[in-house]
Amino acid sequence: MKILLIGGGGREHAMAAAIVRSPRCEKLYCAPGNAGIAEIAECVPIGVMDFDTQIAFAKEQGIDFVVCSQDDPLCAGLVNAHEAAGLRVFGTQAEAAVIEGSKSFAKNLMKKYGIPTAAYEIFSDPGKAAEYLRERASFPVVLKADGLALGKGVLICGDLEEALSGVREIMEDRRFGDAGRELVVEEFMTGREVSVLAFVDGRNIKLMSSAQDHKRAGDGDTGPNTGGMGTFSPSPFYTEEIDRQCRERIYQKTVDAMAAEGRPFRGVLYFGLMMTQDGPKVVEYNTRFGDPEAQVVLPRMKTDILDVMDAVIDGRLDSVDLEFEDNAAVCVVLASGGYPGAYEKGREIRGLGSFRNQEGCFCFHAGTCFDKDGRVVTDGGRVLGITATGRTLREARENSYRAAEQVSFDGKYMRHDIGRALDEI
Ligand code: AMP
Ligand code: GLY
Repeated sequence: MKILLIGGGGREHAMAAAIVRSPRCEKLYCAPGNAGIAEIAECVPIGVMDFDTQIAFAKEQGIDFVVCSQDDPLCAGLVNAHEAAGLRVFGTQAEAAVIEGSKSFAKNLMKKYGIPTAAYEIFSDPGKAAEYLRERASFPVVLKADGLALGKGVLICGDLEEALSGVREIMEDRRFGDAGRELVVEEFMTGREVSVLAFVDGRNIKLMSSAQDHKRAGDGDTGPNTGGMGTFSPSPFYTEEIDRQCRERIYQKTVDAMAAEGRPFRGVLYFGLMMTQDGPKVVEYNTRFGDPEAQVVLPRMKTDILDVMDAVIDGRLDSVDLEFEDNAAVCVVLASGGYPGAYEKGREIRGLGSFRNQEGCFCFHAGTCFDKDGRVVTDGGRVLGITATGRTLREARENSYRAAEQVSFDGKYMRHDIGRALDEI
């Protein structure tokens, strides 16, 4: 099969690595890709939102299969456009991607179908939101811009003053653009967060192994929120009992709810879950592999990813046996100093060669490119994801931190406690 993968981050590098492992992959293209993906695929300079050029390229090259797992193009109708052009594509149609693209849609869906989540109210008028916060809210309270905001549209506000300024920021100043046309005001939940990703074919759901992300920039969960500074899989906090409760109350119910709404969900559904005192609740849905979750989940997947994606498209996921290695993986993100704020780009990355032929060790590129001399340089806030597997999480963590030392670039920054919570158990 000739495959075209759309995107160019760490998640796409992990997906590309899983795709080229398949004996069915004859040739992989990636648009636009990055310097790491270029080692295993042919990168073509086509943007993720440029559907027309992607389609023209796919037709020209005789692509059998297009794959996309990024929120903005999916919500903007990438799958719809490619399907209309007669291509076979793995990803979620816009009608169903709204489960991530609109938080108010997701909250209303959960309320209508009795899926556990934080209590909430939705506002399109900032005055009404402020009135509600003054008269009825308890603190801390969570404010969420309705639309896509690069994972940054969530504010946790400790008191009324902070919340009122949050309403101004989101709804009036439009810090997250049109994503702030509507506002979700949500009850603050406490508990441990676990991500569970699943393949869904419209009707059937197959769960992947659990993972846990570290979203804050600094050690000990301090500092600002980021796209994710590291992950581990499986999560020891995702116990069999919690799995049972989620299967009963959340997973299939969500798939059935989307089908009942006339928006059958096909693709990868990401459940962001919080283990509260009252049991697991949904924090958010995403319509894609998480990043960096994909960087620990996919290296552990035994089943051929192309077989699974085929089954999703054909609606026969029930016939697939989705298997994972009985091991663990830890991913440490190497970021540019300053991220998630301002940072420099174009710094040379040294030591990448040390990863070649290292069994169980992966250096996924998130923000890299080639400079004019052909050297690999930094090109983003999150630069690399260093993933290592091990028999246990502790072993995987040691392997990952050892590997992380092999790479260097000016301003290299990482957290030192990815997976540290494991010491509690
Ligand atoms: P989201 O973009 O929806 O994933 O939210 C970003 C992060 O904000 C989540 O991963 C949680 O850590 C936190 N968060 C979101 N909603 C809530 C909530 N209702 N209670 C507590 N924390 C939340
Ligand atoms: N790591 C969180 C996400 O991909 O949304």
